[in-house]
Amino acid sequence: MNLTVTKGLLEQTPANVLVVNLFEGVKMPGGATGAVDMALGNLISSFVIQKEGFSGKYGQMYVLPTHGKIPADKVLIVGLGKNKDFTLGKLRELAAKVIQKCMKMTNAKKVVSILHGAGIGGFDEALAAQMIAEGTIIGSYSFEKYKSEKKAKKIEEFAIIDINEDSCKKAKAGVKKGKIFAGAVNFARDLANEAPQVATPTYLAKTAQAIKDVDVKVYEKDDIEKMGMGAFLGVARGSSQPPKFIHMRYKPSKPLRKIAIIGKGICFDSGGLDLKPPSSMLNMKDDMSGAAAILAVMSVVKELKPNIEIHALIAACENMPGASAYKPGDILTAKNGKTIEVDNTDAEGRLTLADALCYASDLEVDEIVDLATLTGACVVALGSVASGIMGNSQSLIDRLIKCGAAGGERLWQMPMYEEYKDSLKSDIADMKNTGSRYAGTQTAALFLQNFVKKTRWAHIDIAGTAFLDKPVNELKKGATGAGVRTLLNYILS
Ligand code: BES
Ligand code: MN
Ligand code: ZN
Repeated sequence: MNLTVTKGLLEQTPANVLVVNLFEGVKMPGGATGAVDMALGNLISSFVIQKEGFSGKYGQMYVLPTHGKIPADKVLIVGLGKNKDFTLGKLRELAAKVIQKCMKMTNAKKVVSILHGAGIGGFDEALAAQMIAEGTIIGSYSFEKYKSEKKAKKIEEFAIIDINEDSCKKAKAGVKKGKIFAGAVNFARDLANEAPQVATPTYLAKTAQAIKDVDVKVYEKDDIEKMGMGAFLGVARGSSQPPKFIHMRYKPSKPLRKIAIIGKGICFDSGGLDLKPPSSMLNMKDDMSGAAAILAVMSVVKELKPNIEIHALIAACENMPGASAYKPGDILTAKNGKTIEVDNTDAEGRLTLADALCYASDLEVDEIVDLATLTGACVVALGSVASGIMGNSQSLIDRLIKCGAAGGERLWQMPMYEEYKDSLKSDIADMKNTGSRYAGTQTAALFLQNFVKKTRWAHIDIAGTAFLDKPVNELKKGATGAGVRTLLNYILS
């Protein structure tokens, strides 16, 4: 889809679908919607609103044929809800609903749209346009690679039309940013939706190597052994797929600070010898969603040019119950020398992250953020509309929560109560890999903390948000690219 901003009059623009809007309760539309109404001989105000009872409730839609009164074939009128309740997030979601509606309409190759939210909506034009671009691109995503018959109808062109030169200029900048953000989200979704026999650790490494303009180093099993990543290697042992430790680096000439982002990269989580029951194993190809997000961020970093040095790390492997699989009772030694008694082979993510966190700490970065589909307990606590966030720096956590909110991603801080540390104690090693059954999200974070030195660190548990079984806001079911927009805002802040 070609997404553009063009200066012009909506009512004079040829299109298959022309999108206008109404706030709730408005009887006489103004602005661009008013102009379209006038060109249609008041069909919107006197027919759609008066006779058809279109109230402008949020998400309400009405398709009006134009019968040649204007160059567009049809007008799609969308309700924005109450002006005071309208937010940038609602605009993003609405844009997704609009494109999904257009994709269901027959012969909708070219769509032209009003710049929702600008004008009486009071939004900055650049932000409004960014939301429309994000919603449109995220909303029109589908993963149909393996379908013999592609169902999704392609919209060829989506043009935002505005009469004001200056608004167009701002909107263009917004669209540019929105395209990058949404493109990255869809990049992550493609990776996490990919079949697990394809999206192996080797595939993730190749994906990293294919990203232009970032330095990529892939450590093979021997190198990983040499680095002393015994926890990561323990997990990898049960699979016939070789593990890969991926280190990507983006380095501007005079960076203001240096950060590391880490993504959990379990390409399939069977649970290992502590095998998961079938229903729990079903979506476990998504256990590399953190890695997918990190790769997605690095794939657009050259376009965004943040002035910080970014190290992106992925300890990629599968958690399988093969003949040489690690066993409950095994003692693993992490890169920092700490020993871990394996209590449950299904608590594998924290073991791979432990070594990645050690590696990040050794890089002497200012901040570390990890993204992981880590605990079922987080899904129980927060469901699928918020990720959990924890860490050792309240200021970093607060910043990430803000970056998430601006990107349409909710982060909810979970505590890390010291009392739960005891449950990780082992009789024969420095710690066990699982704590008490309750407060599982916290015990996982407390475990991870053992592998962070003094560096400011935040851990984001995306177990509930990375993969949906029913749509949430602008996202369809399947992989969501959780964390991508949060991290993009974070590297730009
Ligand atoms: N990958 C899972 C966590 C998960 C669960 C992600 C549901 C997405 C949806 C993780 O490796 C895991 O299995 N965690 C265990 C830990 C337990 C054994 C301490 C869990 O949460 O049950
Ligand atoms: Mn697991
Ligand atoms: Zn896992």
